[in-house]
Amino acid sequence: MADDRHNAMFMEGPYEPLMIERAEGPWLHPRGGTRILDAASGAVVVNIGQGREEIARLMAEEAARVNYVLPIWNTPARERLCARLARWTPPGLNRFFFTSGGSEAVEAAIKFALMYQKVKGHPGRKKIISRWTSYHGNTLAALSVGGNLNRRADYEQVLFDWPHIPPSFCYRCPWDKSYPGCDLDCAQALAAEIERHGADSIAAFIAEPMMGATGGAVPPVKEYWPRIVEICRRHEILLIVDEVMTGFGRTGRRFAVEHWNVVPDVLVGGKGLTGGYMPMGMIAAREDLVAECERLHADFMFYTYSCHPLACAVADKVLEIMERERLVEHAAEIGARLGAQLKETLSGHPMVGDIRGTGLFWGIELVRDRAARTPYPPSRKVAAQVIGAALKHGLFVYPTVGMAGKTGGDGVMVTPPFVIGDAEVDYIVRTLSGAFDEVYQALQ
Ligand SMILES: Cc1ncc(COP(=O)(O)O)c(C=O)c1O
Repeated sequence: MADDRHNAMFMEGPYEPLMIERAEGPWLHPRGGTRILDAASGAVVVNIGQGREEIARLMAEEAARVNYVLPIWNTPARERLCARLARWTPPGLNRFFFTSGGSEAVEAAIKFALMYQKVKGHPGRKKIISRWTSYHGNTLAALSVGGNLNRRADYEQVLFDWPHIPPSFCYRCPWDKSYPGCDLDCAQALAAEIERHGADSIAAFIAEPMMGATGGAVPPVKEYWPRIVEICRRHEILLIVDEVMTGFGRTGRRFAVEHWNVVPDVLVGGKGLTGGYMPMGMIAAREDLVAECERLHADFMFYTYSCHPLACAVADKVLEIMERERLVEHAAEIGARLGAQLKETLSGHPMVGDIRGTGLFWGIELVRDRAARTPYPPSRKVAAQVIGAALKHGLFVYPTVGMAGKTGGDGVMVTPPFVIGDAEVDYIVRTLSGAFDEVYQALQ
């Protein structure tokens, strides 16, 4: 295995490295090993499953037709994608900018918000409010709005000094309250933070509609998002929702904001947009906001690979497949069965603190003491141990670490491709249960 990795950088992982030679649907085929059910969809990416020949053929055709154009020019593939996306995204978000991934798209969303405020005559509105326990990517502005303490740690010295508020996260409520009857302090925290800094210094608020990589699939309470929208509107602060992980059907709706009928000013997407068949991220912005910037000839510089013709063609095909096979509806249905089975089988397990999620977006938080909700010490690397044990039995689930802030927090996310059926749900729950037992015994 060392030979395979000879020239690559930073490939040390907490569990056994794998050489994946082939993949099909939700299954990975490692060299010299037995197949693995990828119940993480890679990094929550491969929503439509692997190995679709229809897409491979399209990629060959498209590359032969036109393999690159300046991002300020158009291609038929991009035109098709934009027309389809306008039917997918919330009403009014009809203008699209494409990137090579989610972090770049978060950067683009932040820059768009700063640009818009400047165009409107408010150059002093230059702070972005975000939330602790969030993840928005790995570039420096994306890390600055991120709330994973561990991932920020090595770069704190250069990150933007922008305000963060606590998220809506009932299992670890920072106000130690219970819902309902809690006055929604988590939403009020935004109003308080705006007041503290002065609305005239704030350009935008960015948040994941349901926290993913750091929180471990946390749906907020149902009044949260409508209240957040109202606060942003009142203070003329742009609302950016980061749907890189939750978008394109993952939560059983096309976008997670649809659960509360929320229409943001900017929506960020990635991952499931191309299902891993090409690298791509995007922002969808409100038509009237973009028009305002264009009217004043604001300059929004592209990346060399923005709107890549091949990525546009693939994204359009992926969305077409999702429509044709009703995969978003299937994610909602099979996801409800997955969630019910996870809860039925695992909620009594001595190391399981909380099981939460919706659609095919589930998180299981692991704790040392269920009554006190005490996380395991980070040094025990419990999420990595569970994933290592699951891998040995042919299952991959995604790690999520850091939801307990300074005290760490471990969990796994169960986010399989939308092409699974009841047999795979049984397999996931059974194998994961075995992995929990194995790790729990080893920890005693
Ligand atoms: C919500 C969210 N935003 C942004 C990103 C960054 O995307 P990428 O890794 O494609 O740069 C991620 C990645 O996990 C994410 O979950």
